[in-house]
Amino acid sequence: MSLPPPLVAAPDLVLHAAAWTDVDGAEDDPQGAAAVNVGGTANVASLGVPLVYFSTDYVFDGTKREPYVESDAPNPQSVYGRTKLHGEAAAGERAWIVRSSWLFGETGQNFVRTMLRLGAERDEVAVVDDQRGSPTYVGHLAKATRELVERGLPFGRWHLAAEGDCTWADFAEAIFEEAGLECRVRRITTEELGRPAPRPAYSVLRSEHPDAPQLPHWREGLRECLQRL
Ligand SMILES: NC(=O)c1ccc[n+]([C@@H]2O[C@H](COP(=O)([O-])OP(=O)(O)OC[C@H]3O[C@@H](n4cnc5c(N)ncnc54)[C@H](OP(=O)(O)O)[C@@H]3O)[C@@H](O)[C@H]2O)c1
Repeated sequence: MSLPPPLVAAPDLVLHAAAWTDVDGAEDDPQGAAAVNVGGTANVASLGVPLVYFSTDYVFDGTKREPYVESDAPNPQSVYGRTKLHGEAAAGERAWIVRSSWLFGETGQNFVRTMLRLGAERDEVAVVDDQRGSPTYVGHLAKATRELVERGLPFGRWHLAAEGDCTWADFAEAIFEEAGLECRVRRITTEELGRPAPRPAYSVLRSEHPDAPQLPHWREGLRECLQRL
């Protein structure tokens, strides 16, 4: 007896967020990272339907001191950044390439949840103070992405990140303040932290498209996230 073909509805749109996101681990396994971030994206693109590919501020080298816009030349410094950039190309012509930064939300592993845990356990945490970016609440990114698609804005690169910018240490202090945790932040350098993969020292993203969806300030995103936790 032969089985009937599986009932699979063709999607109208794919939101492609899956990725190898272990930035330090990618340095030791570039092929593994490329298989997921480039090969995986090519698989998704082969469906032939419009695609949103979530990309990263780590495609930039961080040498600029004013916000990166879509027409700035990428120059990734890490394996993760390089594979995400090649993933942008693999996403094809019918794709919105949504670059965002420093994502946090009420679920999953992220900086806010880590700081809430450490802040409740310790009197002090050491946090990097020489990397500057825009912490972006995933709820705000989701709304902006929806707007991009529903307004029928053109395919291509879009920088969608929160308003404002700060260092990781500033962000940690804001988290403790908003959450009412008595924990000090000891400001350290990237070198002191000694992570294997290089990170951009500056990776604030802004859009040069006049009609780009706007995201609220990162502090507003933080408050909204904490309310939902
Ligand atoms: N986090 C950030 O600050 C940031 C900034 C800019 C852009 N982005 C981009 O935003 C997206 C989401 O990031 P995130 O931080 O939310 O990542 P995450 O928490 O690590 O989630 C990545 C997801 O990808 C899935 N995945 C990994 N390898 C897969 C594979 N081979 N097949 C199927 N699924 C696979 C994982 O599934 P399992 O849970 O089953 O492993 C996980 O659900 C990524 O594309 C990332 O590059 C992130």
